[in-house]
Amino acid sequence: MIYLDNAATTFIKPQAVTEAVMNCIRFECGNPGRGAHAISLAAAERIYACREALSDFFGVGAPERVIFTLNTTHALNLAIKGVLGYGDHALISELEHNAVRRPLYALAAQGVQFDVFPVVGLDTEAILRGIRERLTPKTAALITTHASNICSISLPIRAIGALCKEKGIRLIVDAAQSAGHLPIDLRDMQISALALPAHKALFGIQGCGALLLAEGMDPKPLLEGGSGVDSAPLVMPNEPPERYEAGTLPTPAIAGLLAGLNFVRSLGLDEIRRRTEALFLAARERLLSFRDLELYQADAVGSVLLFNHRQIPSTELARTLDREGIAVRAGLHCAPLAHRALGTPAGGAVRLGFSSLNTPEEIDALYSVLRRIV
Ligand code: ALA
Repeated sequence: MIYLDNAATTFIKPQAVTEAVMNCIRFECGNPGRGAHAISLAAAERIYACREALSDFFGVGAPERVIFTLNTTHALNLAIKGVLGYGDHALISELEHNAVRRPLYALAAQGVQFDVFPVVGLDTEAILRGIRERLTPKTAALITTHASNICSISLPIRAIGALCKEKGIRLIVDAAQSAGHLPIDLRDMQISALALPAHKALFGIQGCGALLLAEGMDPKPLLEGGSGVDSAPLVMPNEPPERYEAGTLPTPAIAGLLAGLNFVRSLGLDEIRRRTEALFLAARERLLSFRDLELYQADAVGSVLLFNHRQIPSTELARTLDREGIAVRAGLHCAPLAHRALGTPAGGAVRLGFSSLNTPEEIDALYSVLRRIV
C-alpha cells in the first residue's frame, strides 16, 4: 500500500515512535501526577521531558506553558473560547479549517463577530493590507492557519505577528500542517498561542495535541476537573499547565510525540523540506502531463498537492486509487472555506499529502496507476 494521506495523519511512523509507545505502556504508564510511586513518577517524568522538548523546539522558553490536549481542535477551542467574549471581534484567514471556523461560528451566537481576510494569490504586503483594512477597535484576536491543509500555501506568520503586536491583538496559530514541516519560534514570531497535533508531521500517535502559550496569554480553562495537585479547592489551579489539564493525560501518546519530535530533530527541518518538496515536484510534473487533470495552487511548493479530474468526482477517484493500493483523501477535507477560496467544485478535490518517509518510487507508482485510471 502506498500512503499519501499524511496531511490527515502520518501512518508510517519511525520505529522509535512505535517502540516508545509500547515501552511506555509496558513499563511506565502509571497515572502521571496522581501518585508518589515509581510507576506514576516515571509517567510524569516522560511527560515533563516532552514538555521541555516542545518548549525548546518551538521557542516557548517555558515548559510549563506547553499544555497537552486531545488534538489540535481541542487546543484551538481552548485558545479561541478562552480569550474571546461578548462584544469582541476576531479575524480569520480564508484558508481556515472547521477547527477554527466552527468555534468562531459558535461564538457568534454569544456576541463575538468575525471577518475573513484574503490570502490566495497575495504576497505578504497584500495579506497585511487585507488584515489592516478589517481591523476594528474591538478586534481582540487574529486566528490563522500557518499552512493550509489542502494546498501548500503558508502564511507569513512573522509579519502577521509583528502587526498583531503593534495593534495589541492576540495571534492564535493553527500549526496542524506546519509543525514538523516549517520552522516555528513562538517568541520570535510573536505568536500568543500555537495549536499542534502529535499525529501528523511530528510522527506521534493519535490522541494527543498541544497548545503552546506565550507569556501573558492566559485563556480561561475549557474543562474543569482533577488536576493532580491542590485537590481541596472548587476551582482549577491558577498556574499552567495544571490549570488547563483536567483529567488523566494520554501518557503513551505523549511518549510517542517525544520520540517523533526527536526523529524530526535528528532528520532536521531542512532535510524534511528537501524530501517533501522533491516528492511534490515529481508528483506535480506527472500530474501536469494529464490533460484531464486540474491542479490547484500548484506553484506553492510544499507537502500538499490538490487536484481534480475534470470528469471523475474526487471521491470516486480516491476510491479507485484506494482499490489500486494508493491512499489519498478527497472531498472538502473539513475546510469548505479554503476550498471556496481555491475555487474547487462542490465535491471538493483529491489531496496528496507527502511525508519525509515517502519515496520517489511511490510517486512513480501513483503515476502508473493514474495513467491506467485516466
Ligand atoms: N485535518 C485533517 C485533514 O486535513 C484531518 O485531513
